[in-house]
Amino acid sequence: MEHLATIVLETFGAVARITLNRPQQLNALNDVLMDELGATLKSLDADDRIAAIVITGSEKAFAAGADIKVMASLDFETAYTHNFITRNWDTIRTIRKPIIAAVAGFALGGGCELALACDTIVAADNAQFGQPEIKLGIIPGAGGTQRLTRAIGKAKAMDMILTGRMMNAVEAEQAGLVARVVPLAELNDTAMNMAQTIAGYGRVSVMMAKEAVNVAQEQSLSDGLLFERRGFHSLFATKDQKEGMAAFIEKRAPSFGQN
Ligand code: CAA
Repeated sequence: MEHLATIVLETFGAVARITLNRPQQLNALNDVLMDELGATLKSLDADDRIAAIVITGSEKAFAAGADIKVMASLDFETAYTHNFITRNWDTIRTIRKPIIAAVAGFALGGGCELALACDTIVAADNAQFGQPEIKLGIIPGAGGTQRLTRAIGKAKAMDMILTGRMMNAVEAEQAGLVARVVPLAELNDTAMNMAQTIAGYGRVSVMMAKEAVNVAQEQSLSDGLLFERRGFHSLFATKDQKEGMAAFIEKRAPSFGQN
């Protein structure tokens, strides 16, 4: 276990869990937290022992957004010239290993955007999602208008972003924002089991699957289909493909990772 100023890093075999840890501020995202998160994600991505990552918060809050006390006195010149709030958000996009957001409590503003920047979201039944920036006289600045709209469609995204209302876990699952909702007491085990399952598969196929799904968010269908097919073809060059299919035929469990 590694305690940094604002996050805790733990590893369980091939799975790393990052816990956001500013409890007094409901895990509000400041520069220190975003820097620690960015650097930790980069080092986990480069670490061959790690195959999947879980990001979580506390039972009360995944993260309540960008730190309003820091933003309150910010002026346009500083926000623009220092590229405020893009700090380390682009880093998350570059991580090639799967990242699961395990969300309990509030995921608001930048907190909701952080969950959206992960590859999938598992929510506790007490989770509350929202983009309340409009109440502060601003708009989402870390991808909310784009990723939330892609995740739940225009009508619901407009509703959330224009009214600033919160969405509970059941509505979030129905809307397609989260993959699974579980009782709060089961959140950690569910997310960690999901990560362990992914970590047990072939590294190359997992990375390629993530890459291909992400292409669907950004490119045309024909570009995406071509990208998928090329990836699909190239996986026949891996030992994991030979092992996975041989194991199926021989009715035994596969042993991936012999590449
Ligand atoms: N920034 C800084 N501090 C925050 C915070 C934030 N985003 N959210 C909560 N806190 C702090 C509170 O100031 C409070 O600290 P003090 O005890 O020192 O006053 C502490 O966390 C506990 O918060 P509350 O007393 O308000 O707790 P609550 O249970 O009554 O309410 C809440 C919880 C509904 C989440 C409420 O805290 C809240 O509305 N927070 C702000 C949410 C928000 O507006 N987020 C968007 C920020 S803008 C953004 O994120 C821009 C972007 O796109 C990146």
